[in-house]
Amino acid sequence: ASEPLLAGVRLLLTAGPTREALDPVRYISNHSSGKMGYAIARAAREAGAEVTLVSGPVALATPPGVTRVDVESAEQMHQAVMSRVHECDLFIGCAAVADYRPARVAEQKIKKTGDNDQMVLTLVKNPDIIAAVGALPDKPYTVGFAAETVDVEQYALDKLARKRLDMIAANDVSRAGQGFNADDNALTVFWHGGQAPLPLADKLTLARHLIALIARHYRP
Ligand code: PMT
Repeated sequence: ASEPLLAGVRLLLTAGPTREALDPVRYISNHSSGKMGYAIARAAREAGAEVTLVSGPVALATPPGVTRVDVESAEQMHQAVMSRVHECDLFIGCAAVADYRPARVAEQKIKKTGDNDQMVLTLVKNPDIIAAVGALPDKPYTVGFAAETVDVEQYALDKLARKRLDMIAANDVSRAGQGFNADDNALTVFWHGGQAPLPLADKLTLARHLIALIARHYRP
């Protein structure tokens, strides 16, 4: 048998949403289920990689042979990634990281008051995890995702350049039946000097195609 595609490659991967606390019982988040990232973890493990999966809160079982690190917030995910990134060869950012978090987390449950019909939340920017990885002098081969609702290619290419990625997988998350929380997805993958469409399929099939594409371009 031939050598598996990613034999011995150390992959660090993020998946799922983050939760940004407002008070002890409430948070801001998004509809990421983790299915896409977990499928990539499984496909990479099948391809022989050593996989560490930094996961936001999801309801999925850890794929066999994968090391999982659970986090909740973007700041925790940032810390979990930056403390492990120096021991990886390949980084894939599939998590839907919240771009902003509440400026302050109330210590007690926020009360509804009789006199206020409106409430204003002040949000502050979260760290951009994959941009921090892309800025490292000894950065791993870095693959991002782009979740877009319009001008998919233009925004994906902008993120590829601005976050100093080697490759980006763009999905149009405005389409029904694919993207966030769906079982299927479709991707267009861009790298410097090329692109490839990965048409609509279940997320594991798509993850296997993405891993094969990464293996063709990956340079340690
Ligand atoms: O989890 P599922 O339900 O299966 O859905 C899959 C998915 C739609 C979430 C997935 O395919 C996907 O698109 N993931 C990226 C979602 C996203 O946040 O995209 P973005 O375009 O906002 O971010 C671009 C890139 O920067 C991503 O690699 C993201 O992980 C990264 N990022 C973003 C913000 C931030 N603060 N830190 C980051 O690292």
